[in-house]
Amino acid sequence: MGKDTVTVINNITGESVELPIYHGSHGPSVVDVRPMSKKLGLFTYDPGFVSTASCQSAITYIDGEKGILLYRGYPVEQLAEKSSYLEVCYLLLYGELPSAGAMDEFQQIIMGHSMIHEGLRHFYSGFRRDAHPMAIMVGVVGALSAFYHDSLDIDNPRHREISAHRLIAKMPTIAADSFKYSIGQPFMYPDNSLNYVENFLRMMFAVPSRDFEISPTIVRALELIMILHADHEQNASASTVRLASSSGANPFASISAGIGSLWGPAHGGANEAVIRMLETIDSVKEVPALIARAKDRDDKFRLMGFGHRIYKNFDPRAVILRKACHQVLNELESEHLPLFDIANELERIALEDEYFIERKLYPNVDFYSGIILKAMGVPLNMFTVIFTMARTVGWISQWMEMLEDPEYRIGRPRQLYVGKMQRDYVPMDRRI
Ligand code: CMC
Repeated sequence: MGKDTVTVINNITGESVELPIYHGSHGPSVVDVRPMSKKLGLFTYDPGFVSTASCQSAITYIDGEKGILLYRGYPVEQLAEKSSYLEVCYLLLYGELPSAGAMDEFQQIIMGHSMIHEGLRHFYSGFRRDAHPMAIMVGVVGALSAFYHDSLDIDNPRHREISAHRLIAKMPTIAADSFKYSIGQPFMYPDNSLNYVENFLRMMFAVPSRDFEISPTIVRALELIMILHADHEQNASASTVRLASSSGANPFASISAGIGSLWGPAHGGANEAVIRMLETIDSVKEVPALIARAKDRDDKFRLMGFGHRIYKNFDPRAVILRKACHQVLNELESEHLPLFDIANELERIALEDEYFIERKLYPNVDFYSGIILKAMGVPLNMFTVIFTMARTVGWISQWMEMLEDPEYRIGRPRQLYVGKMQRDYVPMDRRI
């Protein structure tokens, strides 16, 4: 960090304060505004945290203009091509790529934690059968803290690590069980002889009376989706996890808060919303009307899977998934299904439309992941669950980093109060 400063002058009082500027290793520098409230009594105002860095982080770097995404310095394109999801988990958690021995050990540890407590399985029956699997995820992941008391001391690094391993390992089991429960099929136990992604697919699609034939195309596509969703720096759900755990809350409760945040259609819920949107129209002829609705200021409708707060030229994850999407559709011979024709036409028209070009709105990762998951035969209500499973390692890495940061304190934003001034209570019989 450098020693540059910026001076802020209050033109009303004439007082001034010098604020330090910090330079990171990449990306925009930041101004430390803390002395401003102490010396000038002024807070910053930034709804939606559009201009605010909430922490220092060494995990993930995004350059929205250039379309760069790095995990611990490694370009996501290289990881997508050469790595596996579990190797990316190791990288995000520990900061370096593992040696062969470390990877082997990590794989065994994770697979060794893949089962969930039998008592937790009974927990599912309290939910309605038609519950959305994301609703079940929020509840069951939060309930892990009632089952794994032995690793809840957040001040103990070993406890933190065990909780991290448990969350990564158990998430596919919890996710698959939430689906099985919703369709009334028996839960499948994990099979530790399979890899992480294969094991999840088997728990989703096999039944005790019939095993599931695991297609390499589907395994590779899901692995890719998992790698590309593993972390994305201080987005809404990661910030939720940090804020929730800044009070000292246990990791399971904090990750459950993150799942709730991810569920929203502007965030992880977008992959499901993309397909729901495509299913509202019957043919490519109706695409222009959909685009017109997205452009209409009086209509709240937005084109799902388009736009991003940070990526303003392209989403590098979308570039990779677009290519994979065409391969998967081709290999699974689903490219001529009407839904995919509609998606292609929507992408084509939007990319040529002045409204979208001016606002730098491009298809994002969720546009293509939604289409791939649909082609793979994954039920719609499981799309965001899969995003949750992939992002768990990102949330945990952010959580661990926060707890090791000497500057970490409970998160407590301030506000610009615009309500009533102090007034006296009026008894009911004297109110008009
Ligand atoms: N369709 C139509 N117009 C849009 C869209 C869209 N999808 N996205 C943004 N705009 C317009 C918006 O109306 C505004 O127009 P104007 O300047 O005329 O008022 C302008 O573009 C800027 O939008 P914004 O709301 O200020 O942008 P934001 O950074 O606050 O929102 C976003 C980013 C991702 C929430 C938004 O683009 C959106 O709602 N997209 C659809 C949902 C979606 O696909 N979400 C997944 C994001 S990627 C995965 C993840 O992060 O979880």
